[in-house]
Amino acid sequence: MKSSAVMKLKSYNISQIYKLIEPGPVVMVTTMRGARPNVMTMAWHTMIEFTPPLIGCVISDMNYTFDTLKNTGECVIAIPAAKLAGKVVRVGSASGRSIDKFEKIGLTPMQASAVKAPLIAECFANIECKVVDTTLVDKYNFFILEAVKAWIDPAQKDPKTLHHHGHGAFIADGRKIKLQFKSVEP
Ligand SMILES: Cc1cc2nc3c(=O)[nH]c(=O)nc-3n(C[C@H](O)[C@H](O)[C@H](O)COP(=O)(O)O)c2cc1C
Repeated sequence: MKSSAVMKLKSYNISQIYKLIEPGPVVMVTTMRGARPNVMTMAWHTMIEFTPPLIGCVISDMNYTFDTLKNTGECVIAIPAAKLAGKVVRVGSASGRSIDKFEKIGLTPMQASAVKAPLIAECFANIECKVVDTTLVDKYNFFILEAVKAWIDPAQKDPKTLHHHGHGAFIADGRKIKLQFKSVEP
């Protein structure tokens, strides 16, 4: 095996590795507390299972969304196209504890069908979710959600998703590449 010195690799700050592997796309998470909707931005999520469709996500206990999600067990994951980047960052920079982000930032809440949390009209996809496992919430703020209903906006053709590279750096999705899966002969 070659040494890292021979390969001329540079050591990378371990606290910054999230910039390398945050999967994206950056999404927004809506919740409903009483009659008041709220929304936050989220990049730390992952698919876990196809059937039933399970999604894992980290929602910090510093966020207002954390308590609401824990108490109501419901949310919507709304997926914005890159053109909404400015609003997405503002949603992720303010707390719903003190303001109505839908109104202040200019997003339109829409009635969902299976959960009380709203869809976001401006997003090209919305996924209604229920919390199905809180085993890892106390330790890692990690919620496991089941998607119970999904919507897309057919008017938004070929939307480019937004991917976070840390500290305000984003990449908008690029060109689609289609490849055949092929097994490798031993
Ligand atoms: C690009 C971006 C990605 C973010 N990803 C997450 C995340 O994955 N988990 C999280 O807890 N907070 C994340 N945040 C921070 C929350 O969106 C932020 O703390 C927000 O103000 C919480 O709102 P709330 O207090 O109304 O719930 C992110 C913010 C930005 C701008």
